[in-house]
Amino acid sequence: MSKKPYYITTPIYYPSGNPHIGHCYTTVACDSIARFRRMQGYDVKFLTGTDEHGLKIEQKAEEKGITPKAYVDEIVEIFKALWDKMHISYDQYIRTTDAYHIETVQKIFKKLYDQGYIYKGEYKGKYCTPCESFWTQSQLDENGCCPECHREVVEAKEEAYFMKMSPFADRIEKLLLETDYLQPKTRAVELVNNFIKPGLEDLCVSRTSFTWGIPVTFDKKHVVYVWIDALSNYISALGYENDAFHDFDKYWPADVHMVAKDIMRFHAIVWPAMLMALDLPLPKHLAVHGWITFNGQKMSKSLGNVVDPFLLSDRYGADAIRYHILREMALGADSSFSNEIMINRINSDLANGLGNLVSRTVAMVDKYFDSTLPAERQPGEFDNELIAAATGLKEKLESLLDNTQLNLMLAEIFQVVSRANKYIDETAPWILAKDPSNRTRLATVLYNLLETIRIISIPLSAFMPETMPKIWQQIGASAEHIQYDTISAFGNLPATVTVQKGDIIFPRIDVEKEIDELNQLILSSKPKEPSDQPQYTPQPLAEEIDIDTFGKIDLRVAKVVECEKVKKSKKLLKLQLDDGMGGRQVVSGIAAWYKPEDLIGKKIILVANLKPAKLCGVESCGMICASDMPDGSVKVIFPDDALPAGAKIR
Ligand code: MSP
Repeated sequence: MSKKPYYITTPIYYPSGNPHIGHCYTTVACDSIARFRRMQGYDVKFLTGTDEHGLKIEQKAEEKGITPKAYVDEIVEIFKALWDKMHISYDQYIRTTDAYHIETVQKIFKKLYDQGYIYKGEYKGKYCTPCESFWTQSQLDENGCCPECHREVVEAKEEAYFMKMSPFADRIEKLLLETDYLQPKTRAVELVNNFIKPGLEDLCVSRTSFTWGIPVTFDKKHVVYVWIDALSNYISALGYENDAFHDFDKYWPADVHMVAKDIMRFHAIVWPAMLMALDLPLPKHLAVHGWITFNGQKMSKSLGNVVDPFLLSDRYGADAIRYHILREMALGADSSFSNEIMINRINSDLANGLGNLVSRTVAMVDKYFDSTLPAERQPGEFDNELIAAATGLKEKLESLLDNTQLNLMLAEIFQVVSRANKYIDETAPWILAKDPSNRTRLATVLYNLLETIRIISIPLSAFMPETMPKIWQQIGASAEHIQYDTISAFGNLPATVTVQKGDIIFPRIDVEKEIDELNQLILSSKPKEPSDQPQYTPQPLAEEIDIDTFGKIDLRVAKVVECEKVKKSKKLLKLQLDDGMGGRQVVSGIAAWYKPEDLIGKKIILVANLKPAKLCGVESCGMICASDMPDGSVKVIFPDDALPAGAKIR
């Protein structure tokens, strides 16, 4: 019988910088689903790749004096190296610079134009260059900045092609509200209210202001703009409108597209509209997850707060990182990343929970039975509860998987781990071992533990593919004992199973020592990118001034006494300063880069005679001196601590 096809995709990532833990989440989640589905017998196609066109890439390449293609080639290698390191079992890696993809996009664009869905017009709006996004006034944040990265936007206008969206509004509304296309469903109402009810705006689909894109075949000064190019990857990879692949009939419609919430709108509205216009079936599910945040903000390169997954997986192993990020992210919420939480979780769940269960069980079989259990059994108290917990897993996991609740799948599996550890305490094998008349009971207890480990290791192999083979070796499980269908069959290992003592699977970490070392390492580690070290472009020198004019600026040393976030603003911090003159309040747009506790007690340089102003309704008497980093982040200037508050700077 031929296997049922299953098609799952990650977004295609912008290779505008190194991949970070945020990118790993979707990829690891999709990989775990792909592995699980393969285990269940599906014929899986798992697609990932890179979205390589656009202004940002063009600009970055120009800064480095290389072509955009040379620039993305280097970064794509880093993405691929990371996916190898994280054991990502993708079946195809698509690059939007691949010839077959370009052919598909050009044909789709022409088709939509010929059908009257694409027309020429003029685009006016607020444009955020780092995010390559136009925003309407109402979408800007409270400071009138980009709602994504909170940087300034500029007015922009250009001739552009647009795609009509209104013909699809009713069908999309039904898709979102009346089907289970979007997971979690709660987001559907939000989308309908924010984008469909106010009248679906036409989508700008071409650009003339840069050239690094797929040319529009019938109007060469235009390149296809972001979303038609990017979204088409899901079908160009199958051979839609190209001859490179012939998988379209087999794999389309996709079973799951997984994305984070910031690109949900494009996948929930634009992509269905494109498919409707092309008269193609719609994907079955769009699974939307939150962001991995750091200090409450989305982890992203443009905010300068990224965590390096190479460094973490070198140190703790890819499986520990995979487990941690999947376990932390609950459907519909963001998950906050912290080294400390990660290390504590590795200790509690992996070292103490799973690792301990395996090593204790194997060590006891080794010690009490010289590695091989006798065949006789003697059931006893607590057995049924353990067996029920283990064999009940399959059904629970399958229903959670259908709703992409991977964190809950792991929680269910680890409940069985805890149950098994409790079973060891309840049955106390070391006491049974003292009395030879309990030998059969002792063997039964240990067999039950080995079986439980075998059962949980099967679904866990989708999440932690590197570790489970090590466990199988230790518990004496071979290929026939780890088939998916045997999850609900207790008693699959041979009665006279032989174990093999091995290394500790997850060594316990000394939290305090490790945090110190890790922080040092993070500070000293160099980014992996070969040529992506941001170049500092010197700012043009300002107009010359004389010493008297400079003397008018009153710069003082001041000490931060209190500091808190300004409510309703993601950018602003409110600082109370000891300025040696009775104190004052200053508001500063540095919340993306500094936590209040990073600043309290520190001395800063204050522009003390700046006219007071209100920022987000909060009075600011002066300004804190800071400087821009090449990557767009901001560093505050900290003077020598020996200088007293109030000291004048000259
Ligand atoms: N190129 C587009 C996607 C086109 S798909 C047809 C894009 N690329 S991206 O590299 O900026 O982001 C890719 C995915 O990674 C998005 O789903 C994005 O939300 C996700 N993440 C980026 N940072 C993230 C976190 N900090 N946390 C979780 N996911 C995040 O958008």
